Amino acid sequence: MALFNKKSKENTEVKVDERLQHIAFIMDGNGRWAKKRGMPREYGHTQGAKVFKEITEYCGDIGINTVTVYAFSTENWKRPKAEVDAIMKLFIDYIYEALNVMMKKDICIKFLGDKSPLPDKMKELMTEVEEGSKNNKKHLNIAINYGGKDEIVHAVNTAIAEGITEITEKDIEDRLYTKGQMMPDLIFRTAGEQRLSNFLMWQSAYSEFYFTDTLWPDLKPEHIDAAVENFYQRQRRYGGL
Ligand code: FPP
Repeated sequence: MALFNKKSKENTEVKVDERLQHIAFIMDGNGRWAKKRGMPREYGHTQGAKVFKEITEYCGDIGINTVTVYAFSTENWKRPKAEVDAIMKLFIDYIYEALNVMMKKDICIKFLGDKSPLPDKMKELMTEVEEGSKNNKKHLNIAINYGGKDEIVHAVNTAIAEGITEITEKDIEDRLYTKGQMMPDLIFRTAGEQRLSNFLMWQSAYSEFYFTDTLWPDLKPEHIDAAVENFYQRQRRYGGL
């Protein structure tokens, strides 16, 4: 099956099939991108938010069913308050426009993570967007105040509170923030680091990884095309032969 239908040298039309249904991004490098330009880190996050919209839209266009992004970790609260406030403002601005976009594009949006410490207005908006889009077919997961370890502990404690005494893998999977969704086929990290940083620890058990030195705000559709092409050269054996 032709995944890469070359229209011309410059214009490659990429389409994915059922082997690549879920791609997850660790959006790293906003701060470095701003520093290189002599600008405050917040400027990098603003550009990062624009690129987040472009890249998630592009992934939908090439047929990816589920996109997950790591937007704010449980550890990111350690950053200076001004930076945290600027990131939260970007989230709120985005959430305001999200429902409209999600309905037009048939996307169900879900926020992964512990919402409890987030501002009340933001929590209300998040719930409104999740409820409003829940019957849509494609998925966009935005991890905010998310930690993979925290998610697993939360799932186990929920199972215990429900009276389950011998916990199975399915008991945990059914209580993750990503309940009912496909596991990520590909985890894509920008900006040179090659680590998971507490992202989707359970879900990534058999994910493929792709790393690029490109900083998140410089990411373009052609970087996605390169990752897709690379993914299709891999053999996934899931522990078998
Ligand atoms: C990592 O770069 C980026 C973050 C911790 C924040 C990510 C937030 C965005 C891209 C905005 C997303 C917006 C929406 C609407 C979802 P870094 O600051 O760690 O970069 P550095 O490693 O170069 O310092």
